[in-house]
Amino acid sequence: MKVILMNKNTEVLIAEYNEQLAVFTKIYEIKNIDYAPIIINQTLKTNHNDISALTEWFKGRGIPNWRDDLDLLLSKLGVSTPNELLDKAFGLSLSDQYWIKPLNSHVKYKNINFFENDFNSADFTNATFSNSNDFNTKISLISPNNTTDGRLKKSWVIQNSKRYLLKGAYKNEVMQPFNEVIASKICERLNIKHTHYDLEIISDKVVSKCECFIDKDTELVPASQILNNCHKDNAYEEYIEILESYGINNAREKLEDMFILDYIMMNEDRHLNNFGIIRNVNTLKWLDVAPIFDNGQSLNILDYNEKEIILNGQGRFFYNVMDFDDILKKVQDLNRYNIENLNGITEEFENLLHKYQSITKMTDRRIDKICTLLNGRINKLKNIIHHK
Ligand SMILES: Nc1ncnc2c1ncn2[C@@H]1O[C@H](COP(=O)(O)OP(=O)(O)O)[C@@H](O)[C@H]1O
Ligand SMILES: [Mg+2]
Repeated sequence: MKVILMNKNTEVLIAEYNEQLAVFTKIYEIKNIDYAPIIINQTLKTNHNDISALTEWFKGRGIPNWRDDLDLLLSKLGVSTPNELLDKAFGLSLSDQYWIKPLNSHVKYKNINFFENDFNSADFTNATFSNSNDFNTKISLISPNNTTDGRLKKSWVIQNSKRYLLKGAYKNEVMQPFNEVIASKICERLNIKHTHYDLEIISDKVVSKCECFIDKDTELVPASQILNNCHKDNAYEEYIEILESYGINNAREKLEDMFILDYIMMNEDRHLNNFGIIRNVNTLKWLDVAPIFDNGQSLNILDYNEKEIILNGQGRFFYNVMDFDDILKKVQDLNRYNIENLNGITEEFENLLHKYQSITKMTDRRIDKICTLLNGRINKLKNIIHHK
C-alpha cells in the first residue's frame, strides 16, 4: 500500500508499506524531511534509501515483544503479533503526532487523532489488567493502545476529557506503581519538574496513573534518537550541548535533577528511552526536557532481600552502568537541593503502603524494609551534602 508518512498535517514522505510484513519496502518521494522523526531525518539525510531505519522506527512504535504477559493480551485482541496492530489506527500514538495515511485517502488528522477524538479503551484496559483467560469481547483496535512502549502492562484511558496512562506492576511484583508515586512526592518536595503519578485500582490490582504530557502540538523525542550519532563515551556532555543549541535552557541542571531523584530511589532503569525532550510539531522548536517519567524500577525492586537492605547499587548513565555514587559526582551544585524538605516523607510512604496492604498483600516486614531503605538513601544524600 502506498502511504504518506504524516507528522500531524505535514507530509513527510511517500513510501510503500507492506501491511502483512509490517515493513516499508520503498521510499517514493521525500516531501518535508525536517518533519520526520529525528532519527529518520538523520538517517535519510545521509542515505536517501535507508528503508530499514524507517521500518525499525515504525515497528518500535508498537507494543514490544518483552511486554509483560504479551501472549495473553494478543490472544484477547485476536492478533498474533504486535506488528498487526501498527496500522490499525493509522499508527497514531499519544506520545507524538506521526501517522500513516493511505495515499488516496482524504482522511484528516483533526478527525482521527486521539488527543481530540475520544476512543474506547474500557475493554482493552480490562483485557490488559485482568488475569481472566476467557475473553469474548471484541476489543476496539481504534485506540492509542496499539502504540505503547515499555515492559509494563499499560493502557491509555480518558477520564474527564483528559488522557491518562495506567501502568501495572511486573508479574507478581506490586511495587512499581508505589515507586512512581513516591518519586512524584520526592520531586514535589525538591521542586523538580516531573510527571505526577497517582494510584488507581483496576481489576483488584493497584496501578499507577499519570496524565499525558504531550498534546496535539507536541511530541516526545527520546534521548536515544537525539544521541543516535554521538560519541558514546562523551554522550552526557554532547547531550547537554545539543539541547542547549536547540534552545533548551539549563539543560545540565534539569538532567542533574533526574540524577538526584534516581540517586535517592536507586533507579536502575534510566535508559535512553526513559527521558527525552518535547518538540513542537508545527514549528519544530525544542521546548523543554520532558517531565521526569518512569521511576518504577527502583528501591531494590529487582533483588529485594528479606534479610539485607542493599544501600548501594548501580544505575544507567547514558551508555554506561555506574555506581550511583559516581553518577552523583556529575551533579555540580548539590546545595541547590533543599534536602531537609524530605523530612517525614518515609512515614508518608509507609502510610501509603499500609493503606493498600489488603490489596497488595505486602508483608509488614517488606514495608518496613523498603521504608528503611528509602530513609537510608535520603540520609546518605544528606550526609554527602552536609560534608561538602
Ligand atoms: N505521561 C505520558 N505522556 C506521554 N507519553 C508517555 C507518558 N508516560 C509514558 N509515555 C510514553 O510511553 C512509554 C512507556 O511508558 P513508561 O512509563 O516508560 O513504561 P515502562 O515502565 O513500561 O517502560 C514511554 O517511553 C513514553 O514514550
Ligand atoms: Mg520506560
